[in-house]
Amino acid sequence: MIAVTGASGALGRLVIERLLGTEAPSSIRALARSPEKIADLAARGVEVVEADYDRPETLTPALTGVDRLLLVSSSEVGKRAPQHRAVIEAARAAGVGLIAYTSILNIDSSPMILAEEHRETEAMLAGYPGTVVLLRNGWYLENYFGDVAAALAHGAVAGTSGEGRISAAARSDYADAAAAVLRDPPATSTTHELAGDTGFTRAELAAEIGRQTGREIAFANMGEAEFAALLVKAGLPEGFAAVVADADAAAGKGALYSDSTALSTLAGHPTKTLEAAVREALTAAG
Ligand SMILES: NC(=O)c1ccc[n+]([C@@H]2O[C@H](COP(=O)([O-])OP(=O)(O)OC[C@H]3O[C@@H](n4cnc5c(N)ncnc54)[C@H](OP(=O)(O)O)[C@@H]3O)[C@@H](O)[C@H]2O)c1
Repeated sequence: MIAVTGASGALGRLVIERLLGTEAPSSIRALARSPEKIADLAARGVEVVEADYDRPETLTPALTGVDRLLLVSSSEVGKRAPQHRAVIEAARAAGVGLIAYTSILNIDSSPMILAEEHRETEAMLAGYPGTVVLLRNGWYLENYFGDVAAALAHGAVAGTSGEGRISAAARSDYADAAAAVLRDPPATSTTHELAGDTGFTRAELAAEIGRQTGREIAFANMGEAEFAALLVKAGLPEGFAAVVADADAAAGKGALYSDSTALSTLAGHPTKTLEAAVREALTAAG
């Protein structure tokens, strides 16, 4: 039995779709705090089970009988360490043989606020009695779809990442890699630094949007505080804007760059290009 947490989220759902390509639906368990969100998966024969990180009593039953677990990191920044601890403890109690965890790229040196909870989680997993696979995911290309929308509206993309190269890849690339690990697990614990094949700077992103739209698109690089203020003005809550600006500033120092080819190797294909992602974002923007 293969279980995936966060199955109602974008990445978890993609992983389950990939698994359904090769595995019997009855050997896949989709875990979600709101199972009704994934009723369509139940209709396709996947076992859908309630698993709320904040309600440990749901976790051990949800993990009983599971051989391999993908713990998709929680989206509730600030609550993630205790939430992940609850899942790992339940997995231990249920005797889950393998845990794969979606961590963050370059965790050993990353100055990002967002890296801290991943570091705590990796430390918890270091003591796990079974096999542990650390999927240290880089940024999603989809994170930059907002830049495409901003470029269309204002003729510029804004950020604080300067000349920093960003090795982003599509969610679907990371999903392919996670599904490959669950399908064909390693014999021993493994760590993968997962990044897009070709990095890009924000200026290159702006240039690519300009090329595809036939417009002049600038990259407005600014200080971290100024960028955070701009994000607040655009509607982000203050705390989250600070975290995003912090991540972007860290990207300027190389925190989201890697020349690792582990992602395309695991996924079995090259990762999505910047050109394809911009085309997709422009299509989505109409
Ligand atoms: N690499 C990147 O660029 C990047 C960007 C954003 C996030 N991330 C990280 O990668 C993870 C997966 O990305 P994603 O795009 O799939 O995010 P997502 O669509 O926001 O999915 C997050 C999942 O976590 C679940 N979750 C949150 N709190 C929970 C709880 N208390 N109990 C059980 N489940 C809970 C959500 O359930 P509900 O559907 O009930 O909310 C959802 O299924 C994120 O959660 C975040 O840790 C990475």
